[in-house]
Amino acid sequence: MQFPDRRMRRLRRTPALRQLVAETSLSPPDLIAPLFVREGITQPEPIESLPGVVQHTQQSLVAEVGELQARGILAVIIFGVPAQKDPQGSAAYDPDGVAQVALRELRQSFGDDLVIMADLCIDEYTDHGHCGLLTPEGKVDNDATLEIYGRTACVQVEAGADIVAPSGMMDGQVAAIRSALDDQGHAETAILAYAAKYASGLYGPFREAVNVELPAGQDRRAYQQDWRNAREAVEEVRLDIAEGADMVMVKPAVTYLDVIARVRQEFDLPLGAYHVSGEYSLIKAAAANGWIDEQQVALEQLVAVKRAGADFVLTYFARDIAELL
Ligand code: PBG
Repeated sequence: MQFPDRRMRRLRRTPALRQLVAETSLSPPDLIAPLFVREGITQPEPIESLPGVVQHTQQSLVAEVGELQARGILAVIIFGVPAQKDPQGSAAYDPDGVAQVALRELRQSFGDDLVIMADLCIDEYTDHGHCGLLTPEGKVDNDATLEIYGRTACVQVEAGADIVAPSGMMDGQVAAIRSALDDQGHAETAILAYAAKYASGLYGPFREAVNVELPAGQDRRAYQQDWRNAREAVEEVRLDIAEGADMVMVKPAVTYLDVIARVRQEFDLPLGAYHVSGEYSLIKAAAANGWIDEQQVALEQLVAVKRAGADFVLTYFARDIAELL
């Protein structure tokens, strides 16, 4: 048997050798924990389709962030679940809305040691569940929504957010938010753009987490991206950067590794990926059946996202994996 004397196994023989030649690393500061805070509850509420994740009370949220910090996590992203929803999603930009109360408490408790991101969208706050205002015909009104996003950004920053993260996929949202922030004296606040966000089937458990249900037969395909397209994602990112994004993100993560790799190749801004609720739940469910090893698969997927080119990953595994690392 003849083959070139290049035995790849030589460097795989021991854990130390493998560590020496590892091309990708994952550490707690790479992980950002998405956290839900719900108005009007007195106990944290489990989310059935996201085992291990809860809707927090204001109190339990602060406690959770303390534990994440103890495990080396530097950043969290906050989602609010309001007690009341309306067509305009007004709790999203109410200075006393549930997310703003949380941002204020976190800032007070953790000062600048914690990077606080605020998801910026109104779907958690609208009674129709869409990410924007609706026209009388029931279509999502892009330009009318921009003004609302600008207001929401200012309220979030005034409550304590370091970074606002628009996830609504309205055209021009980054520019509108940048200009609203600058007008209100918040030139130092950064924007993390959910730049390439697909109309994915993997957001199902998230919608339970934030109590959002779209009317039957409706979806977000008129504003989120078609999953058949990758070049389009590059253009989305290009536009968001031109509009003033400081960091960009691809979402979901594992189904879109090619998109992450392409964006990494084309742009030099910090790049994140969102390992979304469905990605988490698939692993949890298979592991609960004893079919896969939860920690190994979670680690494998998060490392894959970094290997593809992401600098940081938003993940519901943040706490567990940080502990493991
Ligand atoms: C929209 C938003 C969604 C997610 C984050 N921000 C849901 C959607 O677009 O339908 C999904 C995150 C996840 O599934 O973990 N505000």
